[in-house]
Amino acid sequence: MSELLEDHGEYVWVRPQNNSSEFAVPFGARIVRTEKTKTLICDDHKKQLWVTAEDIVKAMHLTSRGDVEDMITLGDLQEYTILRNLENRYSKKLIYTYTGSMLVAINPYQILPIYTHHDVQQYRNKRLHDLPPHIFAISDNAFQQLQRHQANQCIVISGESGAGKTESTKLILQYLSTISGKQSWIEQQIIKANPIMEAFGNAKTMRNDNSSRFGKYIDIRFTEQGSIQGAKIEQYLLEKSRIVFQSTGERNYHIFYSMLAGLTQPELQRLMIREQSPSKYRYLAQGGCYTLEGKSDAEEFAEIRCAMKMLSFASDEMWNIFSLLAAILHLGNLQFRATEVSNLETVEVDDTQNLDCVAKLLGINVSSLNLALTQRTIYVHGEHVVTSLSKDVAFEGRDAFVKALYNAIFVRIVRRINETLDKDASKTLNTIGVLDIFGFENFETNSFEQLCINYANENLQQFFVRHIFKMEQAEYQNEDINWQHIEFHDNQEILDLIGMKPVNIMSLIDEESKFPKGTDQTLLEKLHVQHGNRSIYVKGKTTQTSLFGIRHYAGVVMYNPLGFLEKNRDSFSTDLRAIVKNSKNKYLVDIFPKELPMDTAKKQPTLSVKFRNSLELLMRTLSSAHPFFIRCIKPNESKEPNNFDKDLCVRQLRYSGMMETARIRRAGYPIRHTYREFVERYRLLVPKIGQLDKCDCKQVAQQICKTSLPVSPDLQFGRTKIFLRDDEDTSLEKERSRIILHSIITIQRGFRRVIFQRYQQKYQAAVITVQRFWRGRLARSKYLIMQQGFHRLGACIAAQQLTHKFIMVRSRIIKLQALSRGYLLRQQFRANLAAERLKKAEEKERKAKQRRSLQLEAEQQLMQQEQKLREQESQLREQEKIRQQEKESERHLAMERNAAAMAALHQPKRTKSLKYTEANGRGGNDIVANNNSYIDVESSKQIVDDVFGFLNDEADVSGPLGPNVKEKSQMFERELRLRKDIPTKLLSRPVNYYEAAPRKIINQTRL
Ligand SMILES: Nc1ncnc2c1ncn2[C@@H]1O[C@H](COP(=O)(O)OP(=O)(O)O)[C@@H](O)[C@H]1O
Ligand SMILES: [Mg+2]
Repeated sequence: MSELLEDHGEYVWVRPQNNSSEFAVPFGARIVRTEKTKTLICDDHKKQLWVTAEDIVKAMHLTSRGDVEDMITLGDLQEYTILRNLENRYSKKLIYTYTGSMLVAINPYQILPIYTHHDVQQYRNKRLHDLPPHIFAISDNAFQQLQRHQANQCIVISGESGAGKTESTKLILQYLSTISGKQSWIEQQIIKANPIMEAFGNAKTMRNDNSSRFGKYIDIRFTEQGSIQGAKIEQYLLEKSRIVFQSTGERNYHIFYSMLAGLTQPELQRLMIREQSPSKYRYLAQGGCYTLEGKSDAEEFAEIRCAMKMLSFASDEMWNIFSLLAAILHLGNLQFRATEVSNLETVEVDDTQNLDCVAKLLGINVSSLNLALTQRTIYVHGEHVVTSLSKDVAFEGRDAFVKALYNAIFVRIVRRINETLDKDASKTLNTIGVLDIFGFENFETNSFEQLCINYANENLQQFFVRHIFKMEQAEYQNEDINWQHIEFHDNQEILDLIGMKPVNIMSLIDEESKFPKGTDQTLLEKLHVQHGNRSIYVKGKTTQTSLFGIRHYAGVVMYNPLGFLEKNRDSFSTDLRAIVKNSKNKYLVDIFPKELPMDTAKKQPTLSVKFRNSLELLMRTLSSAHPFFIRCIKPNESKEPNNFDKDLCVRQLRYSGMMETARIRRAGYPIRHTYREFVERYRLLVPKIGQLDKCDCKQVAQQICKTSLPVSPDLQFGRTKIFLRDDEDTSLEKERSRIILHSIITIQRGFRRVIFQRYQQKYQAAVITVQRFWRGRLARSKYLIMQQGFHRLGACIAAQQLTHKFIMVRSRIIKLQALSRGYLLRQQFRANLAAERLKKAEEKERKAKQRRSLQLEAEQQLMQQEQKLREQESQLREQEKIRQQEKESERHLAMERNAAAMAALHQPKRTKSLKYTEANGRGGNDIVANNNSYIDVESSKQIVDDVFGFLNDEADVSGPLGPNVKEKSQMFERELRLRKDIPTKLLSRPVNYYEAAPRKIINQTRL
């Protein structure tokens, strides 16, 4: 959601938030949401923040919303619009942007793939704005201009230290050497001059690992055919103080470290260098930094030697240079001891070993060197007066000598390179000059060097402003335009103050340097007196009373005059100069300029004079050439890619004077068109203009202005162009937009009608088609549904019929089955029953058989028993006969006695008889004895029946008689029950087949 809002809000400029820096400028943002008193904005880094309505400066011009390749085309040309444009482009890795013909280059701090051979070919012979901004486009344009107009060109590269000036210079040289024809030796030599210059003139600083500590102007000479013929290098203001002092984290010039790392042992011995580590040399150790990241000093030394060879440096010459560098290192380690002679402070060298080395290397007598380092000869009234130095002064004198010596070596090397590169100097050829010079500087403490550098920049600024103004002016003159009223502010006043008008600051410094009693303080007083009341001169406030300031084009810079005079004198002791002059080392003698005689020493040119002279020469050279400007910008102090520090960039934009272009343009008529272009653009403001070829465009333009602009507009009609101010341009644009808008609406209306009609027809046809299809589909689907319904109904009916039929059939079948099953079961039952009956009959038969056999057996047994019993009976009868006979008498008697009584009382009964018998069981003898009654035949038979009657029954007699018979009877009964043949009622009472029927004693027979 928030992303959506970020992409859709209105663009506005917002006042800087919580930033009190003088370089804080409004920033671009999009409105996300507005509430009553505050607005939520989203800046270019997608950061959202609330701001008040007052913080919103204004709506952003359309041209500032994205980014433009040429900032002149920005509708709103301001510091902050320039900044945002640069930032937007930088974030897309587009480091180059134009401002007119000026190129702004932002240091990418990374290798970009935009310098390939393909890129070189692409930019060849193209106009400046044909392709995206590029340093190759500027180089190619300079080359084209040189060839087309046979005129000198110059490319001025400026910017802070580390902004990319030197890299840009190298890129230009490489481009020019590539396009200028075949790669010849001279082109290689020009390219190879760079490593030598950088080794002797570049050093590591906190801002740049390869900072050029001098300014240079390389003039490349081209033949008429456009091939490189030679080159000339001019150097400015080498930073000499670096040789004797480096701040923490910084290094001395690269050459010292490379030399120590790259020289062979014998070479080192020859130079009396015992220690290879830079930390052992005072002049190299002060910064505490000895190596460079990603760089090998030894390899660099080999490269330097190779480049020197390519540039025709003889080995002797190279050796002489290394000897002098070694002498500087030994001089740095030289120790002095303070002494006292006749109450006067004196000094003596406390290090004979180093002194010897220095003397040998410089080709000077040791004692002379010793004296020159510890004494000073001055000229008083034409006489030589020798004075002893104090220890501090001795050190200062040594350092001054070293500085002068190194500077002389550097100057000599540049001269030597020039001798090689610029062999045919007498021939006048067209040149392209490339100026790589330090930009405007404003540090915490600004010294004499800063004054010189800023003076040079003021000159360049004026050159730049004049060029732009001159171009403007030339344009106005060409067009016969009255340009007198255009106000033009240049910095001439500042230039006059510093170095042009009489009693300027430089001349005062010069004067004071030559004045024996002149000090830095007296200089300051003189400056205050001379310029104190000028608006561009600033006196130090109460806290900075020892400072003076100048209101430069890029802001106020406060200078500290301490050391100004000494630096300006730029000389070393006359004693040392004298012994150097007489040195056996010819190279040493040769590198020092032929000085004026000793007594005229005061009239020697000071540094400011020399600098001003070379600057003047440079400005003359530049002025005689057609200039191109490249402004290098350092995006951050930490040398990081993709990091854009806005404050830092604003400061550089101000210091580079980039706003001048916009200012000058706005001072005159910033908008201009050729008549034809103008008419083409605004012809719709007046009706009926025929073909442009057939009409007078100037007249039409006048007519357009007359009808569309208010009375007496501020504009001018030139010969080929019309010149407008912003207001007129805005009015014309507004009117044009209004008419165009109206026309657009009319055209749109017509078009929309036609389009809509077509659309409607198509739509209608489409709708009908769709409807047709839909209706067909609907009918088909309905029919299908109906068809399905019929099918379903038929199916239902058929199903019902079938079900009914089925039920009928089923019921019949079930009935049939039931009957069949009943029949079958009955059949089976009958069969079973018959079988059962048969089985029973058989069983019965079998049992009957058994019974019969048993009966037979029993009969036989009975017969046997009967037989036995008869026998026994007969025996017993016999016995009884005997006993009866014995007792006959007695019984007969008794019986006779009782017979009457007994017969009256008792009817003899079988049961009684039985009981009597039973009772007789216990006391049978008694009973029998007492019952002389007899058992009749019937009773006997009854008894026999009782005993053996069961034999006539159908009872099972197969088993043992007692229990078996019972079991069988029960079984039989069960069967009967099952068979249900016999009414259950009858069976409910168990039949005791063994229950004897009550015996009826028919006859009492006597056994
Ligand atoms: N166009 C570029 N592409 C890649 N790196 C660059 C470019 N310009 C500058 N640099 C980097 O910035 C450093 C400083 O550039 P340099 O030209 O030495 O700055 P200056 O001469 O302005 O002090 C270089 O060493 C290099 O690493
Ligand atoms: Mg540089």
